[in-house]
Amino acid sequence: MLSKTIEALLNKQIAHEAFASYYYLGMASWCQLKGLDGAATFMYRQSEEERAHMLKLFHYINETGGHAHAPPIAKSPEKFKSVLDVFMLALRQEQANTKCINGIVEICLKEKDYATFNFLQWFVSEQHEEEMVFKGILDKIDIIGMDGKGIYMIDKAIAKLNLQLAQG
Ligand code: FEO
Repeated sequence: MLSKTIEALLNKQIAHEAFASYYYLGMASWCQLKGLDGAATFMYRQSEEERAHMLKLFHYINETGGHAHAPPIAKSPEKFKSVLDVFMLALRQEQANTKCINGIVEICLKEKDYATFNFLQWFVSEQHEEEMVFKGILDKIDIIGMDGKGIYMIDKAIAKLNLQLAQG
């Protein structure tokens, strides 16, 4: 049975994941309109993943005696300066999300809610992986540079990464 505090925190996390899903959808659209097909595919996939994270929390709450709520979605930015800007903002979003997850994990320990603590371990690993992937893309952008054919090469590199991610 979830405590009211943890139920509220998990519902808040649902809102964060939903926001991330819409944020990345806006990024995907911007990338697509700029002809950055690799980056667009990456962000569409990422948006789907965030929705899946949201649903994972949703089901957990309802299966554990709580009530999951469909959150209102805040408007997310839709215009970006560059592909670098997109991935810098995405990394910032992930870092903020990691902090939120870690905060809930800490409270679970304090409340001795080991079931939710255990459930959240999946999110802890996922955050680690996502931050690593976003940092990796930013490193590539840094190495390739955005001059001349740089943006084209960056997009190709992200398209290659999409194939690797799709294969798991
Ligand atoms: Fe579900 Fe990327 O946080």
